Amino acid sequence: MRKGEKGILVVIAVIVFVFIGINSYRQAQETEPDKGIPFYSTASNEVRKKGGELYREQKCRDCHTLWGVRNPMQAVPAPALDGIGSLRDESWLFDYLSAADPQQILPTRLKAEYQMPSFSHLPEEDRKTLAAYLANLKVEDWYLNQVKKSEFEKLTGESYQGDSNE
Ligand code: HEC
Repeated sequence: MRKGEKGILVVIAVIVFVFIGINSYRQAQETEPDKGIPFYSTASNEVRKKGGELYREQKCRDCHTLWGVRNPMQAVPAPALDGIGSLRDESWLFDYLSAADPQQILPTRLKAEYQMPSFSHLPEEDRKTLAAYLANLKVEDWYLNQVKKSEFEKLTGESYQGDSNE
């Protein structure tokens, strides 16, 4: 078989696996009872208010989705921030927002204008508030496990064994 033909076969195999993955994920979802929205915030009212104001002022919404809200005029493929506090802790978030070059912490594959900007120019107080605001955005375990499972199966085509206590 020539090299190009092999490549095409691999691409077809990947498409088939993704399709099977999406279908079995849908079926699994259909048979489960509705568990509601998996995202919630554990922040105090003060952090929620101040953090929310900073989040709006600093135009995080231009690139990120949070609670399903983003600027519809922007098409930056930035990660959604729902549940981010279940993945990153407060000190990581503070360091990330304070970094002169955030891409040193999280490498990027995006064009410069789409990348996470540095917020090191903000007063320390504001970076702390934002970090606390983000660290309190949580996601339920069952949802996280479901996402891990479907990502794993989509990428490998094998059935997921980890976290099987669901
Ligand atoms: C110009 C678009 C843009 C703006 C504005 C922006 N971000 Fe980002 N952000 C990104 C991108 C893109 C990434 C992924 C890393 C990268 O490609 O640089 C990211 C990554 C992050 C991450 C890490 C996510 C993870 O998976 O760990 C956090 C947290 C974050 N941003 C918070 C914020 C906050 C808070 C604001 C506002 C103060 C903000 N961002 C403003 C584009 C943006």
